[in-house]
Amino acid sequence: MRVHVADHPLITQKLSVLRDKSTPSPVFRQLTEELVTLLAYEATRGVRVEPVEIQTPVTTTTGLALSQPRPLVVPILRAGLGMLEGMVRLMPTAEVGFLGMVRNEETLEPTTYAERLPMDLSDRQCFVLDPMLATGGSLGAAIEFLFQRNAVDVTAICLLAAPEGLEALEKATEGRDVTIVLGALDERLNENGYIVPGLGDAGDRLYGTV
Ligand code: URA
Repeated sequence: MRVHVADHPLITQKLSVLRDKSTPSPVFRQLTEELVTLLAYEATRGVRVEPVEIQTPVTTTTGLALSQPRPLVVPILRAGLGMLEGMVRLMPTAEVGFLGMVRNEETLEPTTYAERLPMDLSDRQCFVLDPMLATGGSLGAAIEFLFQRNAVDVTAICLLAAPEGLEALEKATEGRDVTIVLGALDERLNENGYIVPGLGDAGDRLYGTV
């Protein structure tokens, strides 16, 4: 598993506003989109492309086009939805699938409660959107779900992560081609499973406490 922590003053500045508990939902949503676009720039560094010949007004030259099959973007419901617009702004031709993960309160295992994805992901590059990599349980299960459908490689984009979650994910994805792109790596998880210093509950801050 490769981990890339974005190191850019604009990313840290936008994250600082997200962390501030007085930032209201509309600003939180807007900044989340902007952050994802910046992180997506880094996360798509390995996107598959192929040469194409193009005619400029002056001459013929060679450029690049995204390869087929199109990359698949997968927001994890609910908070990952707040990252979708920022991602497809950068890669408008990507296909979008949806995955809803919830923790079974008896087994504590993450289970899938909603899924709208192609059955066969052979040859597909997948980009998973999940703002908070806390314990790594649901993200690990989502990534495994995509590999079970034969995804080639999976890149997850997260705003924040805890070291505990990264460690768990490293074990859960052993032997898989996985890249994690982060806005910041925070200090730790607290006893309630929140990232510290973190930004609170990302879903609630995006959408309210429904
Ligand atoms: N999920 C969140 O939304 N926030 C955290 O701090 C941890 C998990």
